[in-house]
Amino acid sequence: MYIPHVVMSQQFDRPFLERLYQTTTEMKERLRQGDLHLACKMKYKTLVSLFYEPSTRTRLSFEIAGANLGAHIITTDNANVFSSAIKGESLEDSIRVISTYLSASSYRSVIVLRHNDKGAALRAAEVSCTPIINAGDGTGQHPTQTLLDLYTIYDECGGVDGLTIALVGDLRYGRTIHSLAYLLAKFAIKQLYLVSPEELKLPRDVRDYLIRHNTPFEENANLDEVAPLVDVIYQTRLQKERFPKEELFDHVSGRYIIDRALIERMKTQARILHPLPRNNEIAQEIDNDPRAAYFRQAQNGLFVRMALLDIVCNTPCDIPPLPKE
Ligand code: NCD
Repeated sequence: MYIPHVVMSQQFDRPFLERLYQTTTEMKERLRQGDLHLACKMKYKTLVSLFYEPSTRTRLSFEIAGANLGAHIITTDNANVFSSAIKGESLEDSIRVISTYLSASSYRSVIVLRHNDKGAALRAAEVSCTPIINAGDGTGQHPTQTLLDLYTIYDECGGVDGLTIALVGDLRYGRTIHSLAYLLAKFAIKQLYLVSPEELKLPRDVRDYLIRHNTPFEENANLDEVAPLVDVIYQTRLQKERFPKEELFDHVSGRYIIDRALIERMKTQARILHPLPRNNEIAQEIDNDPRAAYFRQAQNGLFVRMALLDIVCNTPCDIPPLPKE
């Protein structure tokens, strides 16, 4: 039987995105109308959120999404300490057991997993008989963030093809950047600017993927130069907790700050996205500018995750399989 795991953004294709975003828009509307039938979609199904790393938006938006669809929600939000991981149990063993509890019922349930190791979601998927949704695996990927990032670009800019987009900040350790770059490679982007300090450049495997997909990109460390040229800036926080040495953080911190002076030089219809949380890389003084889309983007996470859960639980074959490479 096919298990619809959601692990990496290379697995998404355009027909899936169209289906997901149509469902997302429906979810948004049905929520607004207070449609009680929504709560039948995951009735008798369980959403286990298993988080080994901190989270605000991802965990809560998944749990609220599940609750809106009528699921039972079971949370372990500090699994590193409060699960048997502290006793030395492997992730695989934990997943084997949890997934057998869930698959004992013929109702399809899901495990939303956040873990500190790159590749953890794939390892979990390999042993799980319940769908695994990757909610961030260390410095690896964060594919559901990308689904909401892309929805926001569609919603705010009217499409993705033909856009000039800058990915800014910590391109090396930022998993939201990796997942977004993989997905943008499947679109006819006009130009992608990769804006980062030398020490935080996009990893080679992601750059190679862009090359293989003929995505025109330029590495440029100068945000002042790039900002007036782009339709979208995707700004990110420095992933301080993943830096091997504190000195690196001191060396690169504060280089790319979006403030009023910078936004004044951007196109009037441009948009600024950020997966959040932010530190000092976006000044609060621009929050009320219509180009600042990051809080709308965060709310879109709820709608997109409702649509994704609905598809995983009710029409699983619509989730594209994991690539074999
Ligand atoms: C991101 C994450 O956890 O990777 N946040 C999120 O899920 N919205 C980005 C970050 O931590 O900087």
